[in-house]
Amino acid sequence: MNALLQGHTASTLAPEALQPVLQVQQVSLEYRTAQRVVRATHEVSFEVDRADRFVLLGPSGCGKSTLLKSVAGFIQPVAGQIRLDGAEVREPGPDRIVVFQEFDQLPPWKTVKQNVMFPLLASRTLKRKEAEERALHYLEKVGLAAFADAYPHTLSGGMKARVAIARALAMQPKILLMDEPFAALDALTRRKMQEELLQLWQEVRFTLLFVTHSIEEALIVGNRILLLSPHPGRVRAEINSERFDLHSLGGVDFQHSAQRIHRLLFDEESGAQSAPSLGFGDIRIAY
Ligand SMILES: Nc1ncnc2c1ncn2[C@@H]1O[C@H](COP(=O)(O)OP(=O)(O)OP(=O)(O)O)[C@@H](O)[C@H]1O
Ligand SMILES: [Mg+2]
Repeated sequence: MNALLQGHTASTLAPEALQPVLQVQQVSLEYRTAQRVVRATHEVSFEVDRADRFVLLGPSGCGKSTLLKSVAGFIQPVAGQIRLDGAEVREPGPDRIVVFQEFDQLPPWKTVKQNVMFPLLASRTLKRKEAEERALHYLEKVGLAAFADAYPHTLSGGMKARVAIARALAMQPKILLMDEPFAALDALTRRKMQEELLQLWQEVRFTLLFVTHSIEEALIVGNRILLLSPHPGRVRAEINSERFDLHSLGGVDFQHSAQRIHRLLFDEESGAQSAPSLGFGDIRIAY
């Protein structure tokens, strides 16, 4: 049971609070061209609970972005199902917002505030006045209230990332999807953004599905990590990483966990037996 549910009895919760927000069931994804079919993932299953920070981790080409796009509704599975609050995902919708790495593509002719308001207005989620209030609320949360009237080209990379996050959260999606959002930032800014994302999560408690190929970033950002095997992606293991945050960096437990994940990802061992000795309370190996 996740943190959000603690303190409630089952009878006080709405039915949808008891089921996972997202259910990915035996999902296989393919790209088809005239010449060939590329299988990106093979029978991948996982469930994301409310307020999880769920990370998809795996080597380049294992299908992380493709999985995220299928959850977003841009790609349909060739087999299996994706359910959001119990309903099958068939197309994109405002209940799933994606933050890509290319947040440099904020329309440059709109101010920061207008950029955040835009999806709210375009999706007819809110009227102008409410959209403006909501935009300012989330800009405040990411520490950019003073830059509401600035234009994107006057912002640093980290600030643009914050605008993209504010814009996504302002839509109050059921799940926030992030595909390597900090990969293009310099190391220090990336670290700062990880810290801020965790602080923001403490305040807002959104549900996050986060893609990375950095083991360290997965351990810091996630409370649960799904390890995917190389192309085509299959589930290799799921790891509980709740106890790690930025303060864990460099610690012995953190290092051991990172090494262990590295071995699991790159198949140097088949490890189910030795997992507990390296301190994973509840690692689940799926072979
Ligand atoms: N538009 C496309 N057409 C054909 N094949 C594609 C397409 N996009 C991705 N693929 C293939 O699908 C597989 C999964 O790609 P995907 O981009 O999901 O991987 P990834 O895990 O996100 O990798 P990275 O960490 O490099 O971003 C790869 O083999 C890739 O070559
Ligand atoms: Mg990718």
